[in-house]
Amino acid sequence: MSKSLTAPAVALGTWAWGDSGEEGDGYFGSPLSESGLREVVEKAQSNGFTLWDTAVAYGMGRSETVLAQALKGFSRSEYQLSTKFTPQMAGDGDDPVADMLEQSLDRLGTDYVDIYWIHNPADVARWTPSLIPMLKSGKIKHVGVSNHDMAEIARADEILGAAGFRVEAVQNHYSLLYRGSERAGILDHCREHGIRFFSYMVLEQGALTGRYGPANPMPEGSNRAGVYNGILPQLQALTDRMAAIGKERDASAADVATAWAIAKGTTPIIGVTKARYIDGLVRARDIELTAEGIAELEALADAADIDTRGWWEHEM
Ligand SMILES: NC(=O)c1ccc[n+]([C@@H]2O[C@H](COP(=O)([O-])OP(=O)(O)OC[C@H]3O[C@@H](n4cnc5c(N)ncnc54)[C@H](OP(=O)(O)O)[C@@H]3O)[C@@H](O)[C@H]2O)c1
Repeated sequence: MSKSLTAPAVALGTWAWGDSGEEGDGYFGSPLSESGLREVVEKAQSNGFTLWDTAVAYGMGRSETVLAQALKGFSRSEYQLSTKFTPQMAGDGDDPVADMLEQSLDRLGTDYVDIYWIHNPADVARWTPSLIPMLKSGKIKHVGVSNHDMAEIARADEILGAAGFRVEAVQNHYSLLYRGSERAGILDHCREHGIRFFSYMVLEQGALTGRYGPANPMPEGSNRAGVYNGILPQLQALTDRMAAIGKERDASAADVATAWAIAKGTTPIIGVTKARYIDGLVRARDIELTAEGIAELEALADAADIDTRGWWEHEM
């Protein structure tokens, strides 16, 4: 087996990189350019943020292609790639998992991925065994499961365990507003078993950054606008408090939300669309929240009384 999984304090998410970048397109509607993303990559890499999370499902391969383009010139050992098998996109060949991985490797311009994820638990018993030959060949260095509940994590681990491998990482939605994995005991389970817990949507796609509000809503026509614009007023007390905590440290509300996820023992995957957001990660990495500060933010989040579970997630 290859050496154990290591990762920086924060991983970088590229779901938004799958949008065309035109206003009103796709999930995010953020304007993205090739040179802008190259700047993101250079700044991230030089600050030690070298783990890039993507998926074929992000823009039907576009995120992987754009990421590979932006990483050009860096040697493969300088960065780690994390991509996913999405069961709902399986082809009808003999080995849909191997086929999907080959296509990702092709788009990513590499012959291995550092972490390969089963994107969701659509059929744990069917898909998990397909990872074993790829682990043996070295095309996959580590396996992770995403959107899996406790029983599904255990089942996947059992299947891999029979071949001498294991689930090394879990990737679930986890933010101040959505703490299902914590309540279900998944965070504790991961800590006790040396499984790295990657938290996604820590910023609730921008809703927890204080950048968006009723006067400055998320881009019209994007999916996230449909999900979050109506609830932004309920988040004001929480984002104001995070901004105040951040101010004492020259940091922003987004940096405090990220620091919260680190303080909870998770590795946040932050969706980065602008180079200046990397400066925020540098600050977040150094912010130490007190137990009282954490409790206060969680109480404000609970008071907002909002359920941000994604349509693709089931209850933990
Ligand atoms: N496994 C799964 O099922 C799953 C599901 C969802 C996400 N993910 C992964 O997790 C990653 C993160 O999730 P996400 O991208 O959906 O949402 P997110 O990280 O909660 O939010 C990302 C958005 O927040 C804004 N932002 C980021 N840093 C900021 C900063 N420092 N200050 C102000 N605003 C900032 C950007 O919006 P603007 O562009 O508008 O500024 C960005 O698009 C994804 O990219 C993906 O890799 C996985």
